Amino acid sequence: MVAGASEGIGAAFASSLAAEGLDLVIVARRLHPLQQLAVSLERTYKVNVKCFSLDLSLPDAALEIEKALNGLEINVLIYNAALSRIGPFLENTPEDLSHITQVNMITPLHMVRRFGESMVRKGKGAIVLMTSLAGLQGSGNLSVYAATKAFSRILAESLWYEWKNSGVDIIACCAGATATPGYVNSQPEKTGFFTPRVLHAEEVPQECFRKLGKQPSCIAGRGNRIASFIMQKVMSRKMAVTIMGDTTRKMYKL
Ligand SMILES: NC(=O)c1ccc[n+]([C@@H]2O[C@H](COP(=O)([O-])OP(=O)(O)OC[C@H]3O[C@@H](n4cnc5c(N)ncnc54)[C@H](OP(=O)(O)O)[C@@H]3O)[C@@H](O)[C@H]2O)c1
Repeated sequence: MVAGASEGIGAAFASSLAAEGLDLVIVARRLHPLQQLAVSLERTYKVNVKCFSLDLSLPDAALEIEKALNGLEINVLIYNAALSRIGPFLENTPEDLSHITQVNMITPLHMVRRFGESMVRKGKGAIVLMTSLAGLQGSGNLSVYAATKAFSRILAESLWYEWKNSGVDIIACCAGATATPGYVNSQPEKTGFFTPRVLHAEEVPQECFRKLGKQPSCIAGRGNRIASFIMQKVMSRKMAVTIMGDTTRKMYKL
């Protein structure tokens, strides 16, 4: 299952799994792009693809998915969907806070609980939680998004430890700037310092699957790994937070 699969990195994950011959359940709000992707994957890779239109910001989204599956087993879960609001924290309405935390944190938490349990019982399975470089330190003007991404990373890493002898692999896959519709539509400006190459969406699942089962989290893209190494291991926390905030401010002319 790929949750948040209608475009971008989620669609790339779906293509990558279909290329391995896996049947898929793909989830997003917009049915039409899901159906287009399903037709293309079924034709290219001779797999079965089911489409579920669902808003993952609904409080009972995980339960709705389970009901819609009607007993169908999920052996691989990619939780990719995310919502971010760029700008000062105080400009978030209470509704924004609920939506962002539900899509980025609460729904994946419940999905991991539900599907992780049956994977551990069977002794096989894999889970990928998409996270972000923004979640590796405080990220001004991305505060709520960054905090939810830190949550996903810590959740995946914790379960990697708990499940490492269970036959279930789980990884937090951390992306930096990646040329998806979501990223392009946010209209980022190019900034000079600490802006590694923008990745193609397909590169993220390729790198993630190379690391799945070997480590609790990974960072897609060599430039992102270098930037992250410098920010996490060389700089002081204060400097890393300042650089991240300054970069975001310049990128979005805040
Ligand atoms: N792109 C980047 O530069 C970048 C950088 C760092 C981390 N990431 C992470 O990588 C992941 C994917 O990013 P992306 O740029 O590919 O995102 P995107 O282009 O915004 O696509 C997100 C996908 O999730 C679905 N989705 C969003 N909200 C949803 C909701 N409420 N209910 C159901 N589906 C929903 C969207 O489909 P519908 O609109 O049809 O619902 C879409 O298929 C995210 O977790 C993001 O945090 C991306």
